[in-house]
Amino acid sequence: MPLRGDDPGQWGASMANMSEIMFPVLDAAGVRSLAEIGAYAGDLTAVLLEWAGPAGATVIAVDPTPQQALLDLAEERAELRLEQATSLDAIPRMDLPDAFIIDGDHNYFTVSEELKLIEERAGEAAMPLLLFHDVCWPHARRDAYYAPDRIPEEYRSTIASGVGIAPGEPGLTYGGLPYVHVQEREGGERNGVLTAIEDFLEERPGLEFALLPMFFGFGVCWRRDAPYAGALRSLTAPLDRNPVIARLEWNRVCTLAESHVARTHLAVLKEKHTEQQARCRRQEDLLREVERSTRLRIAEKLARFRRRDQPDMRARIAAELDSGASATDPA
Ligand SMILES: C[S@@+](CC[C@H](N)C(=O)[O-])C[C@H]1O[C@@H](n2cnc3c(N)ncnc32)[C@H](O)[C@@H]1O
Repeated sequence: MPLRGDDPGQWGASMANMSEIMFPVLDAAGVRSLAEIGAYAGDLTAVLLEWAGPAGATVIAVDPTPQQALLDLAEERAELRLEQATSLDAIPRMDLPDAFIIDGDHNYFTVSEELKLIEERAGEAAMPLLLFHDVCWPHARRDAYYAPDRIPEEYRSTIASGVGIAPGEPGLTYGGLPYVHVQEREGGERNGVLTAIEDFLEERPGLEFALLPMFFGFGVCWRRDAPYAGALRSLTAPLDRNPVIARLEWNRVCTLAESHVARTHLAVLKEKHTEQQARCRRQEDLLREVERSTRLRIAEKLARFRRRDQPDMRARIAAELDSGASATDPA
């Protein structure tokens, strides 16, 4: 489906990719108000607005650092409210919507706090419908951070910055998907979006969770006693932890990471090639200088005066320079 804005590196990162399953879920749950936590450039927000019109629903986008495209969208569309704030600041003061899409800072601390805040506002018996992104690789079991200074000290010492990660490799990789700030290792306690959701759900048996393994993972969580629980179960069941879809997604992220490894290698090769070309040019300039130098001319004359069979260095240098010029000259 065509997305607004661009998709750097063709990551398929926007949840707009899940519209075909997300909208039926929202319709089945009778959602009339919705908050998207983390809206970036408004790719999903724009399609949510398309859905919201006929559904008669309202949309709030929450993002502390929205991209220009989202700011423009909020200007153009009066029915969109943009809260320029973090989720942890915005949730306590917003009117509680029927559903949240949680796609902001992909780490254990933030997601756990978001869930606690929503529950504090709604009460366990009235939890809104919760949709999550990033419940599969890479952030199911590994935190990423937009702003480490918003995260408690206990998580910070193991954050790696400006690194690559790849599926099947719990550490860091040369190349791979590039990250500004991630946990240096995948797995373990209190690490990752899915870990945060599972820890939350463990103490709340009244909530049900489906994990759709597509486009980095789509999670759907609803109250077992909600009037729409059966409808959501039927909709999500064929995709919930579906092994064929999970394999497709694994294949996709492997290919994505490999393309980034290849890109890194290519960038290094290009850099080396540019360095080599600059070095060749410097050597060529030096040879020309030597060839034209009076000192070499005198030294050659002297040498050939002593011994006639001395090689003609100037002629050799000139021939070498000529051969270089003819090798690079496209004419
Ligand atoms: C992956 S993007 C969201 C993509 C969008 N939901 C889509 O599907 O097209 C994550 C966004 O979350 C925002 N963000 C980071 N920390 C946040 C927080 N604590 N609360 C809300 N948004 C946050 C970032 O600024 C970024 O724009």
